[in-house]
Formats: sequence, C-alpha cells, structure tokens
Amino acid sequence: PVPAAFRAELPIPPVLAPVHTDTTTDFYEIVQRPGKLGILPGLSTEAWTYHGSFPGPTLKTPAGRKAVVKHTNQLPHPTVVHLHGGHTPAESDGYPTDLIHPVGGEQQGSLTGMAAMSGMAGMAKLDSGGGQTSRTYTYPLDQRAATLWYHDHRMGFTAANVWQGLAGFHLVTDDEEAALPLPQGKRDIPLMICDRSFGADGSFTYPALAGGQQLPGVSAAYMDGVLGDVILVNGAPWPVLRADRARYRFRILNGSNARQYSLALDPQPPGGGALVQIGSDGGLLASPRTHDSIDVAPAERFDVVIDFARYAPGTRVRLVNKLGTGGTAEVMCFDVGTDGRVADDSHVPAKLSEIAPLDRASATTTRDFLFQKSSGAWTINGAPYTPGRDLARARLGTTEVWRFTSDVHHPVHLHLNHFQVLSRNGRPPGPYDAGWKDTVDVRPSEAVEVAVKFTGYAGRYMLHCHNLEHEDMAMMADFSTE
Ligand code: C2O
Ligand code: CU
Repeated sequence: PVPAAFRAELPIPPVLAPVHTDTTTDFYEIVQRPGKLGILPGLSTEAWTYHGSFPGPTLKTPAGRKAVVKHTNQLPHPTVVHLHGGHTPAESDGYPTDLIHPVGGEQQGSLTGMAAMSGMAGMAKLDSGGGQTSRTYTYPLDQRAATLWYHDHRMGFTAANVWQGLAGFHLVTDDEEAALPLPQGKRDIPLMICDRSFGADGSFTYPALAGGQQLPGVSAAYMDGVLGDVILVNGAPWPVLRADRARYRFRILNGSNARQYSLALDPQPPGGGALVQIGSDGGLLASPRTHDSIDVAPAERFDVVIDFARYAPGTRVRLVNKLGTGGTAEVMCFDVGTDGRVADDSHVPAKLSEIAPLDRASATTTRDFLFQKSSGAWTINGAPYTPGRDLARARLGTTEVWRFTSDVHHPVHLHLNHFQVLSRNGRPPGPYDAGWKDTVDVRPSEAVEVAVKFTGYAGRYMLHCHNLEHEDMAMMADFSTE
C-alpha cells in the first residue's frame, strides 16, 4: 500500500465520561464488543473494541483520584484488562488468567503442541465455561502524571486480542505538570502508532492458530513477532494532522505487537533537534532532551514537543520510520498552517520535574533474568511461563537491581513499579532511557540493568517481553511482592 492513497484526518480517541463521580472516585463502564470500523477507504473492518472504538476511549484521571472501571465482555471469547504503567493492587492488575468470560459462553478446544510445550496447558480449564462476564477494576492512581494505556492481557491470546483492537489510553494528570507552560488542550495529542495487515475485504488478518481463540500463540513462522504492512495512528492509516505554526505535545505510544520504530521528521527543521522529549513511560523527565530521532519499542511511551513554527507556512512534514521500508517507512504527516501569526504562549522549561535517582548502592539484591528462545519457546531463565510460579519475591520498600539479558530484541516490561535504567552492557544508559520507565528495549545480546523500588501493594505481578508474540509464546514470569 502507498501511504498517500490512504490519507485521512488524524482521529483523536474520544474521552470517556464517568457514569458517576463522588469526592474521591470516577466510575466508568466500558463494554467490550465487536465493532465495524472504517479504517480503509470503502471497506469496513470487523474489530474487537473497547466501547465501539479503536483505539478505545481515553480515560483521564487526576493523580490521587481513583478510577473504578467496570468492563463487560460482549466479545465471543474471554478477555483480561491490564492498565499498563498503573500502580495497581494485584487483584485489579489483570493477571493473565483472571478472565472476564464472554456473555454467551465459549467452547474451548484442547491444548496441544506449542501450548502444552509452553506450559500453557493450565489455561484450558480456566477458560472452560461459566464465570463472571464483567469485572470491576479499581485503580488508585496514586502516581505521577503519565501516559498510561490499557490493553488486553489474556494469557496466550494477548497478541491476537490487541491486534483486533483492544487497546486505549489512560492519561494521569497532576498539578505539577499542569503548572508548566507546556502545550495543552487541542495541542496535547496522544498518538497510538501500530501496524496491521488487512485482507482484501478490509478484515484484520492475524495468523492465529486453529482459526483463533482455540490455541494460544502463533505458528513457528510468526514466533518472532507479527508485523503489518499498514501503519495506523489512532486507528487511521498514515493520517494527516493540520497543525498550527505552534508547539504541540504528542504522547507517542508504540502500540504495535512487535514492530520497532525509529521516528524522525522529514524534513528536519533548520538546525535539527525537532523532537524535544519531555516525558517517558512514567511521566515527565527532569529536564527536556532534544533528539533528531527517537527509537520506540513496543509499549514504550515518549512525550515530545514539536514546534511547527520552525517550519515555513504550508510545509508538509512527514513523521517517518527509519527502520521501515515502503509503506512502513512512513507513519503520518503534519500539514503546517499557512497562517504566519498564531498565538502560542507555551514553551518547554529547562527544568520539568524532580527525579530522585535510584542508586545501585541502595539495592538489597541483584537478580538476573535471561530472555531467550529455548527449545522452541520464548523463555525467561530457561522456563516458559507457568502461572503461579514466582521468579522473584521482593520486599515492599526495598530497591533491587534487575539485570535483563537478551538473545534478540526484547522490550521488557515490569508491572506495578516504574524503574530507572542504570546501564547497558556496563555502559551508561542510552539516549532514550531517561526518566521513569516501565518498558525497556533490551537490544540483541545486551545486558540492561534497571533499579526498581517495590512500593504499594503485596501480591502477584508480571514480568514479560512486550513483543506480544513473544509474550504469548511464554516469555512471561510471575513475581510477588510481600
Ligand atoms: Cu502492556 Cu503486561 O503489559
Ligand atoms: Cu521478546
């Protein structure tokens, strides 16, 4: 496909209104249901949606207020919801076997082959029949302002479920951030970037085993990760945003199953440094970082400010992917307005926030986690995912160093707490490692050390690769806090 043939206006996911609120809490209801989307010109795409849209509706919560979200499953198969980046009690964290069952019930096939080999056999009984068809998740959101997202997390089926549309933004705001002169309102825009492929009839194509929802994962041919040839931003192929000659804040999320991006603007503004990073997974950086390009692995977020006043009126600026070829080398474009005088009193201050470094000296334990393919499965420390088997037990209030070592690229994600990157192959962190992270791209044959302080809630959480095919093919582990 040729990007230019598909240009539509950039959609902005709708913000969901609470069904009611009280002094401490916003209550939301989301129905997970099949939906028909107009993604490709003249065709309709059957999707699995949160509340009818893809991306799902955006939730916005001021830090310190609770969000209570009731999800009802009207899809034909079980689901699980995880708030990615949320500091969440375990019972609401979306443990991959805490299923919301479909309203109509569903027959599960027996698990064979890959599934059995991967230790996923336990899933069959967990899925079979009955159980609750809605579930209420409680998010305390006692955390800094940040771009979080929610997505499906069903064991063995996360990749297929997200591919079919189960992902949305949940933004946390706070007074510290609101007091900064950053772009706001219509100039503060979330961008969910993901790749998909489509059948001639407009359907999403995903190489699920046995026609889908019977066997977890994908065939060996797709085990490295499923890639699409169409790039969607907020659900639209290669869209265009008409931008004023002013600063914009973009909350970039790589919502792809497996694709890595290296994002840049083409043309660059005079003098370069087009992408001013102000935040990462866990919110504001201490101070801004200027980049010509940004490498974004699946599930990572980069908050950037782009000043279109640096371009001549009427310039078309493309957001390109330097790792792509053909259609996947382009992401979207910005048509810079022709009005030379636009009011813009925003700027990016030299100091954004305070980030107390988590230092190695305060760590009580160092643990090693090896991410690699082993006997035909993706494994952590040699073992495929086994629900209920902790690879680590961490004491709340303590800091630990976790060292992730890779064979190939693995974007490693930790639930519950954000971390700081300490080193890559013994060297200082890279240009994209600043701030609080919940996902770190571990590159081929690399050892990345992170420091994490465990806080909040005792319970069982997940550590996994966020290449969703790797995750479904068992590159996941439990850890517990106590
Ligand atoms: Cu974004 Cu455990 O996932
Ligand atoms: Cu991986």
